[in-house]
Amino acid sequence: ASTLGAAAAERGRYFGTAVAANRLGESDYVNTLNREFNSVTPENEMKWDALEPNQGSFNYGNADRIVSHARGRGMSVRGHTLVWHSQLPGWVNNLSGSNLRSATNNHINQVMGHWRGQIHSWDVVNEAFEENGTRRNSVFQRQLGNGYIEEAFRAARAADPNAKLCYNDYNTDGQNAKSNAVYALVQDFRNRGVPIDCVGFQSHFNSQSPVPSDYQQNLQRFANLGVDVQITELDIEGSGTAQANNYRRVVEACLAVSRCTGITVWGVTDKYSWRPNGTPLLFDGNYNKKPAYDAVLAALGGS
Ligand code: G3I
Repeated sequence: ASTLGAAAAERGRYFGTAVAANRLGESDYVNTLNREFNSVTPENEMKWDALEPNQGSFNYGNADRIVSHARGRGMSVRGHTLVWHSQLPGWVNNLSGSNLRSATNNHINQVMGHWRGQIHSWDVVNEAFEENGTRRNSVFQRQLGNGYIEEAFRAARAADPNAKLCYNDYNTDGQNAKSNAVYALVQDFRNRGVPIDCVGFQSHFNSQSPVPSDYQQNLQRFANLGVDVQITELDIEGSGTAQANNYRRVVEACLAVSRCTGITVWGVTDKYSWRPNGTPLLFDGNYNKKPAYDAVLAALGGS
C-alpha cells in the first residue's frame, strides 16, 4: 500500500487526521486528506461552543460539512467532544446542579442523535483529570460531583448505542499519576458495567513530554481491561530523523497492541498545526511528505 490509510487498513487499523471545515476549500489540503487518510476528527467543529452556542439552539453546519465529506469517501468519523471544560459556551459555566445535569444530558442526546449511526467513536468525556490524578476542577466536577463521568457515558450509550464511547486525555501516554487515575476509572466502569468501549491517548509530544519509554506497555494495560485503545491527537515536535524515529515508535507501539484500533494525527499539514510555529505533523507547509511520513508508512508496512 502506498498511502497511510491503505497501509493501516492492511494492518486492521484506521489512520486519521483532525480536519478543519474552513480548509475544505483548499485543493492541496483536500487532495492530501482524500489520498492519505481514512478517518477524520473535526478539530473544533463538534465542541460544545461550536454546536450549541446558545442553550437549546444547535449549529451543525460546519461539522456536517466534515461528516459528509468523510462519509462520502468511505472515511470513518471520530466525534470530539461532548463533555469538556474547555471551548464551553459561557452559559454552561453559569448553570448549577440539576440545570447543568439536564443541559448536559440534552447536549449529549441532541448531538449524538443528530449523527446517530454515523460516528465510529465519540470522545464522551475529555481531559477530566489533573496531572496528579485528582479530578480537574471543572463546572461539571463542581456542580455534579464525581458521578458526572458515569452519567455522561450512560447518556451517551442510550443516545447512540452503536458508537464506541471513549474517555480521552493527554499526558496519559505513559504510566504516571494521571494515567493511573484514568486506569482506575476504566477498571471501575468495567467492574460495575458502566458503558465504556475505548480510551483515547492524545499523544501530543515535544521535548518536555517525549514519547514515553513505556508507551506500548501503558496502552496494553488499558487494553487488558477489555477496552479498545486509540491514539487520538498525535503530533510530535521536531524535524528530520529524530522526529521520524519518534513517529515510528508510536506506530510500532500501536501495532504491537491488538486492541489499538487506530491512529489519528492532529492535522494534515504543519501550516495549520495548533502549535504556533511548530512542525509536528507528517506533511510540511507545502504538503510535501516529511521523513516522519516515510517512517510512518514504512512502519505500517507500506511503501
Ligand atoms: O473560531 C474562532 C474565530 O472566529 C476567531 O476569529 C479566532 C481568533 O482567535 O479564533 C477562532 O477560534 C479558535 C479555534 O481554535 C478555531 O480556530 C480558538 O481561538 C482557538 O483557541 C482554538 O484552538 C483549538 C484548541 O483545541 C482550543 O482548546 C485548536 O484549534 C485545536 O487544535 C485544539 O485541540 C485540542 C483538542 O480539542 C483537545 N486536546 C488538545 C488539543 C490541542 O490543544
